[in-house]
Amino acid sequence: MTDVSTSDETQVDVETASESESSSYDAAQRRSRQIEADLAGDAGRYRMLTGDRPTGRLHIGHYFGSLANRVRLQELGVDSWIVIADYQVITDRDGVGPIRERVLSLLVDYLAVGLDPARSTIFTHSAVPALNQLMLPFLSLVTDSELRRNPTVKSELAASQRPMSGLMLTYPVHQAADILFCKANVVPVGKDQLPHLEQTRVVARRFDETYGRGSLKAPVFPQPDALLSEAPNILGTDGTKMSKSRGNTIEIGMTADATAKIIKRAVTDSDRNITYDPQGRPEVANLLLLAALCTGRTPQSWADEIGDGGAGRLKAVVTEAVNSTFAPIRERRAELEADPGHLLRVLAEGNARANAVAEATLDEVREAMGMAYDLA
Ligand code: TRP
Repeated sequence: MTDVSTSDETQVDVETASESESSSYDAAQRRSRQIEADLAGDAGRYRMLTGDRPTGRLHIGHYFGSLANRVRLQELGVDSWIVIADYQVITDRDGVGPIRERVLSLLVDYLAVGLDPARSTIFTHSAVPALNQLMLPFLSLVTDSELRRNPTVKSELAASQRPMSGLMLTYPVHQAADILFCKANVVPVGKDQLPHLEQTRVVARRFDETYGRGSLKAPVFPQPDALLSEAPNILGTDGTKMSKSRGNTIEIGMTADATAKIIKRAVTDSDRNITYDPQGRPEVANLLLLAALCTGRTPQSWADEIGDGGAGRLKAVVTEAVNSTFAPIRERRAELEADPGHLLRVLAEGNARANAVAEATLDEVREAMGMAYDLA
């Protein structure tokens, strides 16, 4: 998930970033705020593209970190495009897993939380050949040292025991194709994904510089901006980063019982008096934050209410808050899961729309590159 920004990671990054990195972060943040302000009145000017690798069921960190924001943008009237990145997930160090099931399960999560296929185009990489073909001219516009400097490529490489594949090295360029094929001008991202967006802007700019504009008057590609997430970061039930591999996640699609069980096991501390102290009591603060996000209240107000009720009361509150917030979503999830035909139709329609746009863009690219050989 890309657009989950983690506030504490952000702080560390800002401190260690070079001056130019942090000033470009500041610039991206200013720009992002401007766009946010503009969105409310002028949503029609924006096309958003974002997406996820199909790695399995989404959790409530994904929900509050990015899905809820996508639904908000959709409701504002932003033209929304969402890629299920099935060609990107094959670079994952943990392997692909049962890909078809994972793609469909991701789609179920999307639809259950309120993404509406009539307004949000949901598609898969593998079904859109013209998108993938953009990768070839784009690859000619980047250097291997540029790619080796990409922080995500670097950290994936460091975390993986495997040698780096060509696709892993070049996946930021593939991601540029995701964004540019539909000429998206905004991309909701967390800070960690800013280098990808910068790479995308570089590709767009160089394409224009290299191929002029052919017979076309305007640049083929816009330079997309980041829409930086200000979402709070939810930790897992053990107080570390929420992640499937750590077994500390609350999945969107979990049953109420399973939710109660995992919250019961959540790490807290021995102080019975519940206070909101993110620095001193991060695990307790995280549970309070979760209750707050689900109920639209502040963590502080929950802490005041629970007071001497201790961890037991705190966990009961959180369980109730999570289960009632997600009950309708879980109900829709179950209905959607029972109708795979519907899911496949939604995907087919999204893929058809993505293909039409991708082919039109590829035509412009061929034209600009002097590669249009159609008979008149
Ligand atoms: N990289 C994203 C992830 O890790 C998925 C993704 C693929 C994406 N293409 C994208 C995100 C384009 C934003 C824009 O889940």
